Amino acid sequence: MANDTSPDTPSPTLSDGEQNIPRHVAIIMDGNGRWAEKRHQPRIMGHRAGVEAVRGVVEGCSKKGVEVLTLFAFSSENWRRPKQEVSLLMELFMTALGREVKRLHKNNVRLRVIGDIKGFNKALQKRIAKAQTLTQENTGLTVVVAANYGGRWDITQAAKHLAAQVQAGELSVEDITPEHMADGMSLADLPEPDLFIRTGGESRISNFLLWQLAYTEFYFSDILWPDFNRDALDDAIASFATRQRRFGRTGQQVEQSKANATLEKTC
Ligand code: IPE
Ligand code: IPE
Ligand code: MG
Repeated sequence: MANDTSPDTPSPTLSDGEQNIPRHVAIIMDGNGRWAEKRHQPRIMGHRAGVEAVRGVVEGCSKKGVEVLTLFAFSSENWRRPKQEVSLLMELFMTALGREVKRLHKNNVRLRVIGDIKGFNKALQKRIAKAQTLTQENTGLTVVVAANYGGRWDITQAAKHLAAQVQAGELSVEDITPEHMADGMSLADLPEPDLFIRTGGESRISNFLLWQLAYTEFYFSDILWPDFNRDALDDAIASFATRQRRFGRTGQQVEQSKANATLEKTC
């Protein structure tokens, strides 16, 4: 596993004036349905408005110098919703992918989808593959869309991968480390999320990145996702900038290593 993804190593943050910018922001985009219901509109209108909000946040993250933005679009539990909402969501996913990918590509964004893609219909799977291939060489912001994703599914995938390696005699049970687990999971090649945002007023993880959020800073907002604009993103990043990330150490140790790093830089 790359060193920079280890929770023992506080991930270096980019400087934006005085502000610490998270390298990786992960968002549960919640509240679309209630946004529409408040306007006496069908829930799908909220999901459509949610796509617009995604556009703003992608632009905001690009401008701020965030490296990775992970967006929870559809959970493995969202299949439990009424059939009609699920099928409208699939349609929206299809059209949004078709429409937005060109714009993302033009803006040098690399798109990646995580989750059990095999659960989607063939046309959608094809569109996802095409979008990933088109944008894979881009060097700007990486946008990860979590679709038919569940944190427990992700951990199970990693466990299966390790079990297969043990069965093949490539790895012994005693040698298994948390790093082996992490290697088998989604986002293994990317820095761990620094900032987690959930909109819509709920304070739960809902089976999002269970493993990867071990040392992430949490930020909960009452704003319904379609209303989450660039100012709201700035507020979340400003809150992140005030946090002291200790990764198990004492506050004093963290201050000391920061002072040492500054000294090294100026020498
Ligand atoms: C989040 O908004 C989008 C998806 C889960 C697809 P919701 O649809 O959950 O909105 P609320 O929570 O019902 O308002
Ligand atoms: C989480 O939102 C999933 C996504 C935003 C895609 P939900 O609305 O499905 O979460 P719960 O059911 O309220 O926990
Ligand atoms: Mg919800």
